[in-house]
Amino acid sequence: MAEDKKKLWGGRFEKSLSDLSREISESISFDKILYKQDIRASLAHAEMLAKQDIIEKGQFENIQKGLLQVEKEIEENKLEYSFELEDIHTHIETRLTEIIGDDGKRLHTGRSRNDQVAVDTHLYLKEVIANQKSELIDLLENIFQKAKENQKKIWPGYTHTQIAQPVLLGHYLMAYFWMFFRDINFLLFAEKDCDKMPLGAAALAGANYPIDREFAAKKLGFSELYENSMDAVSSRDYQMTYHFFAAKLFIHISRFCEEMILYNSSEFQYITMNDAVTTGSSIMPQKKNPDIAEILRGKTGRVTGNLNALLMNLKSLPLTYNRDLQEDKVYLFDTAKQVSYGIKGVSEILLNVEFHPEKALENLEKGFAQATDIADYLVSYHKLPFREAHELTGKLVAYCEKKKIYISSLDESQIKEVLGQYTLSKKVILISECINRKQGTGSTSEKELSVQLKKAEICLEGLK
Ligand code: ARG
Repeated sequence: MAEDKKKLWGGRFEKSLSDLSREISESISFDKILYKQDIRASLAHAEMLAKQDIIEKGQFENIQKGLLQVEKEIEENKLEYSFELEDIHTHIETRLTEIIGDDGKRLHTGRSRNDQVAVDTHLYLKEVIANQKSELIDLLENIFQKAKENQKKIWPGYTHTQIAQPVLLGHYLMAYFWMFFRDINFLLFAEKDCDKMPLGAAALAGANYPIDREFAAKKLGFSELYENSMDAVSSRDYQMTYHFFAAKLFIHISRFCEEMILYNSSEFQYITMNDAVTTGSSIMPQKKNPDIAEILRGKTGRVTGNLNALLMNLKSLPLTYNRDLQEDKVYLFDTAKQVSYGIKGVSEILLNVEFHPEKALENLEKGFAQATDIADYLVSYHKLPFREAHELTGKLVAYCEKKKIYISSLDESQIKEVLGQYTLSKKVILISECINRKQGTGSTSEKELSVQLKKAEICLEGLK
């Protein structure tokens, strides 16, 4: 068993940790990515200690110089990591003391790794969120542009995966714009939750020194402090909120990907994904598979799983810090990475897709997508009660099905054969005419879609 001479708590222990326990308890293999946040927080803490005369100014200056050197060594891949030193906090402090000597041992005055890991992850998540906010804005812009380009093209609207009514392609795409727009609002909640500083809680009860938490918070860019030291070290709400956001986002991503995969199939052929987002098969030479959309759809399981993992980790966990909490970073770092892939991946698919409205129109005809409009016409023009109009239109659909013809190709005598005295004008039986008949804010008419696009533009501006 390796000698434990570097342990932070050596004083009280006689035997060292077993090799297996050491392996179970290490977090350096994943928390090393927190080095920047850890050093930043240590610099602020040390400066506060000096300002409050808890350490001397010269000691702070040494600590500062030493921490910057440790940072450089990490960035140049020169720092050796070992399970014995458990986590990034211990690695940095140990190396600092090796470099500057005894002054390094003063850095941990009035703090604990409990508030240290909490402040590091708050800082980390704040940065992640700032980046992902702008990635999401880029995605919204891409969807908006696509919707604008395709403002006039007709697209099938579905319910129950059955053709329902025609809509504009731009309107269809904007449905995703609003989904992702709401996700940004959710992300902003998470951003707010991260903007609270836990540092100064020390182990759980506060520090035995005249610390100035407000000073450190200002240095680190936090707008608020945790009001309660016990809550500060045990809360993972800021991570929960982020995972809720990520899970909701990925549910939306999975719905988008599912439709792209379906519409790209040889059965639908509504879209073609180009080579940038498709891959071939090792055995079937004809294949072009929509792998990127499939992988993103699959990642939904992983991201919602990470949310569940954190929830289960926290369930019934007593106050305050418990080592269970070390696991939170595994879920957090993974989800943060997948979220960026997800957001950028959706843009990548969207930018590499060609839409085929002519194929979509064919299916709208096959699906008798103007049927509701015909029933409504019988109500408004011939003053039939809706139930009767519905019944009559149903008969018209059945007639077309039997004869294997589209409603739009019916001639006057055929219409008479089914509807008797109730005539239908040519305009009423055309799919393309259904669009602008739709009324009310948020409907698919060209007029309302322009209103919607204007509103989206204002919302996008508001986010910048
Ligand atoms: N590596 C630990 C974590 O990630 C840091 C905090 C350790 N605190 C403790 N009391 N052992 O949670």
